[in-house]
Amino acid sequence: MWNKVFGGGTEDTFEVPKKDSPLFDRIDWNRLPRHVAIIMDGNGRWAKGQGLLRSAGHTAGVKTLKHILKTAVGLGLDALTVYAFSTENWKRPHAEVDFLMHLFSEYLTREMQEMHENNVQIHFLGRIDGLSEGLQHQVREAETLMRDNTGVKFNIAANYGGQDEILRMTQTLAKRAASGQLRPEDISEQMIEDTLDTHGNLPVDLVIRTSGDQRLSNFLLWQAAYAEFWFTDANWPEFTPERFVDAMVDFGKRDRRFGGLNEKKS
Ligand code: IPE
Ligand code: IPE
Ligand code: MG
Repeated sequence: MWNKVFGGGTEDTFEVPKKDSPLFDRIDWNRLPRHVAIIMDGNGRWAKGQGLLRSAGHTAGVKTLKHILKTAVGLGLDALTVYAFSTENWKRPHAEVDFLMHLFSEYLTREMQEMHENNVQIHFLGRIDGLSEGLQHQVREAETLMRDNTGVKFNIAANYGGQDEILRMTQTLAKRAASGQLRPEDISEQMIEDTLDTHGNLPVDLVIRTSGDQRLSNFLLWQAAYAEFWFTDANWPEFTPERFVDAMVDFGKRDRRFGGLNEKKS
C-alpha cells in the first residue's frame, strides 16, 4: 500500500558520477569542502507550485537526496549531513508527520543496500529514541550494516535540533562531573565535540539551504561555527547535481580567514 502512495519503484538512472564526468569539469579538486550540510527546504512550496499535495513534494525530495548523495560519493566528500526532520517539525499536522516517518522508513528499506555498495557510512543525528520502535530498529540496522565502510559519512538529522543536541551533551557532561568522573575545569572544546551527535566528523565547511530562506532553523549550531553559507531559490525537489556543483565551485572561491588575516589577499 505504501508503495502506491509513495510512487514506489526503484527505477533511477542516475549513477555515481566518475571523477572525469563532465558534471565535475568545473571542480577544483584542491578546494572542495570536506563536510557539507544541507537544509533540504521547500518541498511543500514546490508541490504547491505544481498543484500537488505537500506529500508529493516530500516524495520528490527523496529522489533529489538520492542524486545528491551519489554526487557527494563521486566528489569524495568526507561527510554529507542532511536535515530531514527537526525537533520543531512535530508542530506540523499529524498526517504530514506520519507521512514523513513512513517515507523515511521506506527510503531506508529501499536505499540501504545501494548505499552500502557505495561504501557510505550512515549515521543518524538527533533524538532517535523519539522515533517509532520500527524506525529505531531500521536506524540501528542501517548503522550496523555500514559500520565498517570507509567512504562518505552520510549523516541524517532526524528529530534533530541543535539546541536539543547541546542540551543533551551538557547533561551527559554534567552527569559525569556530578559522579566525580570529570572535573569541570577539564571540559574542553574537543570533549564537547566528542559528546555531540556528530562526534567523529570534521567541522562543517559549507551549509547549503534551498528555497530562498536564509536561516539555520536550529541546524548544527555548534558545528557550523565557521561554515560558509550558500543559498539558492530553487526548492529542494528541483535542486540538481549541477546546482550542487555550483555550490562547490562557489565555495572554492571563498576566502576563509577564521578570524586571522589572509597574507596573500590583504
Ligand atoms: C522541507 O520542506 C522538508 C521538511 C522540513 C521535512 P518543507 O516541508 O519545509 O517545505 P516548505 O518549506 O513548507 O515549502
Ligand atoms: C528546516 O526546515 C528543517 C528541515 C529541513 C528538516 P523548516 O521548513 O522546518 O524550517 P522553518 O520552519 O522554515 O524555519
Ligand atoms: Mg520549510
